[in-house]
Amino acid sequence: MSALYGLLLFVWVTIVQGRDPIGQNLILILADGFGNSLLNSSQNDVNIGLKAIAENGVTTEFLRPSFPTHSWPNWMSLITGLYPDSHGFSADYMYDEQSQMAFEKGYGINDTEDVWWKGRPAPIWYTAGKKGVDINCYWFAHCHRPYWDLVVKVPNHRWADLGNPQQTDRLGEIVPEVVSRIAKYQSHKQQFFLIRSSSVGNAIRMHGPNSDEAEQALQRFDLHVHNLQQELEKEKLSSSTNLVIIGDHGLRGINEEEQFYLEECLADYSRVKKVVNMHSMVMVFTDPEEEGNVHFELHVCEQWGMVTDYDENDIPLVKAYKLSELPEDLHWKDSRFMSGVILMTKPGVSIITRELPSVPDLGDIARDAKYTGGWLPDVDEMKGFFMARGPAFKVNEKHPPVDMVDVYQVLLNILSIDPNPNNGTWTNVEAMLTEGWEDRQSHESSTEQRIVVFSILFCLITRLLW
Ligand SMILES: *[C@@H]1O[C@H](CO)[C@@H](O)[C@H](O)[C@H]1NC(C)=O
Ligand SMILES: *[C@@H]1O[C@H](CO)[C@@H](O)[C@H](O)[C@H]1NC(C)=O
Ligand SMILES: *[C@@H]1O[C@H](CO)[C@@H](O)[C@H](O)[C@H]1NC(C)=O
Repeated sequence: MSALYGLLLFVWVTIVQGRDPIGQNLILILADGFGNSLLNSSQNDVNIGLKAIAENGVTTEFLRPSFPTHSWPNWMSLITGLYPDSHGFSADYMYDEQSQMAFEKGYGINDTEDVWWKGRPAPIWYTAGKKGVDINCYWFAHCHRPYWDLVVKVPNHRWADLGNPQQTDRLGEIVPEVVSRIAKYQSHKQQFFLIRSSSVGNAIRMHGPNSDEAEQALQRFDLHVHNLQQELEKEKLSSSTNLVIIGDHGLRGINEEEQFYLEECLADYSRVKKVVNMHSMVMVFTDPEEEGNVHFELHVCEQWGMVTDYDENDIPLVKAYKLSELPEDLHWKDSRFMSGVILMTKPGVSIITRELPSVPDLGDIARDAKYTGGWLPDVDEMKGFFMARGPAFKVNEKHPPVDMVDVYQVLLNILSIDPNPNNGTWTNVEAMLTEGWEDRQSHESSTEQRIVVFSILFCLITRLLW
């Protein structure tokens, strides 16, 4: 009798766990601050790993980031498919006038406060996790943060520590762990890995794109991506596992001779309550009754008005907007924590402060960056990239540009999960996918089928016995 139960158990194990993967797996690597123009100009440094993805998968002309071309607005667009005015992360630095708290790129002391997080749209790991997909995050910002009724289990050393820029340099070390986990568990649960890498972006911010440091960071990144593909092939996972690499936005140099102090344009500093963000885009908070004055002073400021004698067709060095005047197509002005006055500069031009109350504060080392993001998404150096290979993607496919908000729907399609309402456009991405994306098998139904088969078998055997 017990032998028979043993047999049944064996049948159960082989049927339910099977040997086939339960659906397609997905590895997403987010390369922060790694833009398309750098990718394009460093083909010699990325000629192993990234080249193999291009040859065996899909590349896009570029990826259009969300505005501002900072990390947080784009990370949130990636994981929700929404523009910043819908996901609410308006910039890397934010200021809440009511509580007088600042959000500082994920490393500030009040960055975990509810004011930033409450009521936000569901991140992709929630939606996928609820459908039974196994979520694995490595240094991926706020992945460990509980959302509603789900907490992704992320060991402490894999929490994003944004105050430690070197944290993600260990990308190479985690490759074996990622691959063996997929090999071991893919027949139980679909595997979804979210990995952030900031090594290329950090090297550029500190040393510039033509530095040895940047070159080495690029080569190392390329090598890790190469090793990952090799390991996947060795474990015969290439036919079940997709690899997607996103450069969220690029960085551009700041022209030293075109750096302005905001103070020089203001007659009365006390009119400004807080200056938030720096260099390319600056939010200026005032009392409501001072908004008009401050906007006017900044609009006509001679400091940046008279530097070059530009004709009417030239872009001014600095543009001062009232909130209501911001261009609609940025999908930004209805976001949260917006100021009444906003400055946007011509690429390369920078605005900083030296006395006014500022976020980040005046001592923050981020203010000394030589390269930065934040300019308009259509500025060449700001553009990101998207490349991918795996069973879901066509081979050697050159695809037109995609938007950051388009990526979310692709990721969920691969996992055969319906996306939440989002701002992606399916026709922007459809052509990069292999035939049959419409009827990607849902892993739930396949598990259910296996359980049904087992139940029938169980009934048959027990009836035979008694
Ligand atoms: C990439 O670089 C080539 C020259 O190396 C240039 O012709 C092309 O326009 C660049 N493409 C992009 C998207 O920057
Ligand atoms: C953090 O919150 C405390 C308490 O509300 C406040 O006093 C402090 O100024 C805040 N600091 C920042 C950087 O937000
Ligand atoms: C983006 O998607 C959200 C959710 O569906 C929607 O509320 C919002 O209007 C959309 N924005 C645009 C510009 O389509």
